[in-house]
Amino acid sequence: MAMEGVKGIWFSFPIGLLLSLLLLLSHAEEITELEAQSIEVFKEGPYSVGRLDIPPWGEDPLKPLLVAVPTAKGVYPVVMFLHAYFPVKNYFYWQMLEHVASHGYIVVAPQMYDITGWNTTDEMLDVASIRSWLPEGLTNFFPPDLAEVKPDFQRVAIAGHSRGGKVAFGAAMGLFSPPSFSALAALDPVDGATGHPTSPPLLTNSQNSLNLKVPTLVVGTGLGPAEHWMFPTCAPEGLDHVEFFRETAGSAYHFVAVDQGHQDILNDDVDFLACFLCKCKAPLAPMRRFGAGILVAFLDATVGGNGAGALNDVIRNPHLAPVRLEKPEFKPLVGSETSPNRVMSG
Ligand SMILES: *[C@@H]1O[C@H](CO)[C@@H](O)[C@H](O)[C@H]1NC(C)=O
Repeated sequence: MAMEGVKGIWFSFPIGLLLSLLLLLSHAEEITELEAQSIEVFKEGPYSVGRLDIPPWGEDPLKPLLVAVPTAKGVYPVVMFLHAYFPVKNYFYWQMLEHVASHGYIVVAPQMYDITGWNTTDEMLDVASIRSWLPEGLTNFFPPDLAEVKPDFQRVAIAGHSRGGKVAFGAAMGLFSPPSFSALAALDPVDGATGHPTSPPLLTNSQNSLNLKVPTLVVGTGLGPAEHWMFPTCAPEGLDHVEFFRETAGSAYHFVAVDQGHQDILNDDVDFLACFLCKCKAPLAPMRRFGAGILVAFLDATVGGNGAGALNDVIRNPHLAPVRLEKPEFKPLVGSETSPNRVMSG
């Protein structure tokens, strides 16, 4: 009898376990479906992507362009993407750019310089020149099999990383040329070195002083200001994403990847360099997928015209991001009562 009792327990134990597992699974499925939208942006999108390497085209500025372009017939918004300071190159971001393009965006990443000095003014001017060249020149470099792929030059965003994020800010503000971008995304933007902003300094140390007239995304990393060997800090406090967000008059989003480093959005094939230059958290894939995905969510909400669904999903469910996030922040344009949904629906 006693033996049978024990057997009974052994018999019912797996069934009970199975039942609770099934219950868990069906519940998990429910969550997955509910939250699918925000997860989607962190995965490769539905478009296959072509890569174009466009050489300098014979008029100023003489910049090579790396272009990630969806190959399917269609009309796509355009994003310019500006790389970080020397020795970082535009093609170090290829995996991220390809991810963004696979969601239906044409990404144009100029090689801004090989090495350059303290003054970013020329970069802001170069961005404006490239921006005004794009509508007349870009598709001349499309091969015949991209004949049905049309960039929409009414919907152009500017994005950049590190120093490129600062230059993107300057270009979007129209510091040296009329502003010509509909949205701005700055990935761990940096205004310069501690006590020594690059010229011209953009930050004023005063809240809401940067009155951009376009929606803005600011992404930051927790390890950006970290000490790293004897190198200057990659993203010094006071000149980093925190201050850019504080000074942006809105409407602006702020996402901070707490455990990640300043260069963690680069390609896997340069992870050694990324971790040599700045404190990092390898492997880089999760942060790269986060950077690409949050950029896609922001573009969807602005130039993509797809609404703020994915962006709001990440704000409500930051734990769904592939990296650990601080509580995301949004501020509406100062002086407006607009909710994120209404700002982003246009
Ligand atoms: C930065 O460069 C611009 C354009 O080349 C120049 O006009 C300006 O004087 C420079 N600024 C500084 C502080 O050197």
